[in-house]
Amino acid sequence: MTWDELRVAVGRRFARLATNVVTRFPGLWPVFRGLIGVQFDALAPRWEQMVSPEHMAPYEAALASLDPPARALDLGTGTGAGAMAIARRFPQAEVVGADLSDRMIGEARRKVPPELSARVRFEVADASRLPYPDGSFDLVTLMNMIPFFDELARVTARGGAALFSFSGGTGTPIYVPAERLRAELGRRGFTEFADFAAGNGTALVARKGSGT
Ligand SMILES: C[S@@+](CC[C@H](N)C(=O)[O-])C[C@H]1O[C@@H](n2cnc3c(N)ncnc32)[C@H](O)[C@@H]1O
Repeated sequence: MTWDELRVAVGRRFARLATNVVTRFPGLWPVFRGLIGVQFDALAPRWEQMVSPEHMAPYEAALASLDPPARALDLGTGTGAGAMAIARRFPQAEVVGADLSDRMIGEARRKVPPELSARVRFEVADASRLPYPDGSFDLVTLMNMIPFFDELARVTARGGAALFSFSGGTGTPIYVPAERLRAELGRRGFTEFADFAAGNGTALVARKGSGT
């Protein structure tokens, strides 16, 4: 194993550890935030060479089940592939891609094609404390991203949807089991759930009740 391969392997373990801890104890996020930021800043220039060709399959399968959103947010957008997939699928949607890593956001901004640039924007933001008002988005997506349940529920509009996708299924470094997602979301007013499997991965769509 080369030094670089070792660094990537350790990074994957660290991402899983951060996911397991932070989904149970979100107050511990500040312990991990700095290193996660450094890790993804370093990966930003070569992120798209690292992911598999099937990377987007579960995300796309889950998106295909949804009604068109007017406003969508892709959290932990990385180089922006999720945000751009929403914009391509739903030609009326305004889409925000948000990420902690300013180098990831720099890559995402560089990749937006001219035909999407009026509807897609990218912002540096921490998903644990989002700079958006309550109920701002009809769709909130997370592809291979640590969920901060209170914040994502807060910014999802009543009747809106949240989508969680894990490109490598249970082997994804940032992975949260569907039963845990359902339990956490159920406590925050999400009432309907649908599971998807495509490529090597899985996804879950949760709909927020319109009376919550
Ligand atoms: C595994 S990458 C996934 C990128 C992209 N969604 C994809 O699947 O290609 C995780 C991304 O989440 C970002 N991230 C991690 N914690 C975050 C947080 N609290 N707020 C915003 N972004 C975060 C990282 O910077 C990184 O770009």
